[in-house]
Amino acid sequence: MTRNSRGSLIRPVPLPDSASWPVVTPLSPSVVYSSETPDALDAQYEGRVHGYTYSREGHPNADVVAARLDAMEGAAGGVVTASGMAAVTAVLMGLLQSGDHVVGGNQLYGRSLRLMNEDLPRLGIATSLADPGDVAAVRAALRPETRMVLVEVVSNPTLRVADIDGLAALCRDRGILFVVDNTFTTPRAFRPFEHGADIVIHSITKLLAGHSDVMLGYVVARDPELNDRMRVFSVTTGATPSPFDCWLGERGLLSFDLRFDRAQQTARILADHLADLPGVARVIYPTRADHPDHARAAALLGDAGCNMVSFELNGDRDTANAFTRAADGLSFAPTLGDVGTTLSHPASSSHRALSAQNRAALGITEGFFRVSVGLEDPDQLKNIFTTAINDATVTGRSHSSGDSG
Ligand SMILES: Cc1ncc(COP(=O)(O)O)c(C=O)c1O
Repeated sequence: MTRNSRGSLIRPVPLPDSASWPVVTPLSPSVVYSSETPDALDAQYEGRVHGYTYSREGHPNADVVAARLDAMEGAAGGVVTASGMAAVTAVLMGLLQSGDHVVGGNQLYGRSLRLMNEDLPRLGIATSLADPGDVAAVRAALRPETRMVLVEVVSNPTLRVADIDGLAALCRDRGILFVVDNTFTTPRAFRPFEHGADIVIHSITKLLAGHSDVMLGYVVARDPELNDRMRVFSVTTGATPSPFDCWLGERGLLSFDLRFDRAQQTARILADHLADLPGVARVIYPTRADHPDHARAAALLGDAGCNMVSFELNGDRDTANAFTRAADGLSFAPTLGDVGTTLSHPASSSHRALSAQNRAALGITEGFFRVSVGLEDPDQLKNIFTTAINDATVTGRSHSSGDSG
């Protein structure tokens, strides 16, 4: 007897036979899966046959996304999670234990920093932060009990480039796991395993899914045993993604390469354009010749760069307010990787918890903006930025003082 011939009024009826098959991955929202016999279930649990039992433990849509990400990163056995932070957590909490020490990049994504600063120490895991562009600083932070170094390739929002090759060599020498969050750079621009990483993390939410309608993460280790531990941690803590998010995320992945190439080409054009505008004090783009890590960016990223551009307006908070008001058609939203261009103002969002002095040390002033470049026509974007910056730095300021007067 097959599972489909057991239909009743309540249980699922058999799917219609078809000699052809769908071109799109079917969505499988079922939370539970039924088996034929206890023996059949034993065979599944013992790994003699593959099958699903309960969707928190795994489901077809997550496995399809994992297989696609594995192929993109040149890996095997990756784990798809309910968000990028669930992937970061699977690494830090799924692999470390009380008494261990971990070194993180000092400009990690805000919630990763919070894990490092608040949650891991609470659980007896010691943490230090160091500049990932400075191997000597990371070496100085290591302790005998250091088990892991976690960095992002390009920092947010100042777009500094980590010394990935130097850090990989350091970690290899010391027998420490080297973990790279590849969210900003994506496998299109950078493949961490080819540069000595042991574990790679993604927030699929961002460029990979690309439409700001899905939260998903992914983590994969070279070592299958580490993948098993992270998978068990994710399943136990309920960090499994929903089938629908995986289904949407997979749809986003199908166009990822095209979207990334287009967005990064436009980002480069926009960066050069912004640098020529009188209201702009400075522009940060990794592969521009005036970037402090330009040589390293070229070595690691080649021509790819990334889709993020940061720049600083001449002016203060009033100028920043006038700019976002005037930037017609661009979303002022603290995210990245959407099909549409988005603007983020770190001083009022991601970096608001820092003192003005600490922000200044990072170069994050009230005029500082991060742009996640989308798929718009480059000329249209240039026009929007030119008009909005001109309005904000010349005429906009007088509008706003006129309003308040
Ligand atoms: C570099 C990086 N890592 C991890 C995350 C967390 O991803 P998620 O928002 O999917 O939890 C983000 C989110 O912005 C990020 O920028």
